[in-house]
Amino acid sequence: MKVHHVGYLTKRLDKTLAEFLRLGYHTEKEAAYDSVRDVNIAFVQNGAYRVELIEPAGEGSPLAPLLSRYKNTPYHICYETEDLEVSEKELVEAGYTVFQPAAPAPCIDGRRVEFLLHRSMGIIELLEV
Ligand code: NI
Repeated sequence: MKVHHVGYLTKRLDKTLAEFLRLGYHTEKEAAYDSVRDVNIAFVQNGAYRVELIEPAGEGSPLAPLLSRYKNTPYHICYETEDLEVSEKELVEAGYTVFQPAAPAPCIDGRRVEFLLHRSMGIIELLEV
């Protein structure tokens, strides 16, 4: 599956973004608020590599608990699929568990994403393109 981005958890999006820019990335999408997940999201690019910076906006964000485990770090890889339902079915049969069902991603043009978990893989995201 084609990789769309690597998701990078950050405690302070503005500060982490500045470090990505220092390392040669450019801003693809300015920081924006995702009300579905209560997070701020920005996209940066460096050549073929796209990184999504994700900052939990409040204690109530479903991603806030991850900060106590991961700090500033990559934590998911997002893959493109032309059919979310077909890919989900294949992955579930291969042992993945859906832990965040398909929902629109306001910061990716409203396209649907979902998150799955596998004990030997960790978190992956599917993006419908
Ligand atoms: Ni993502």
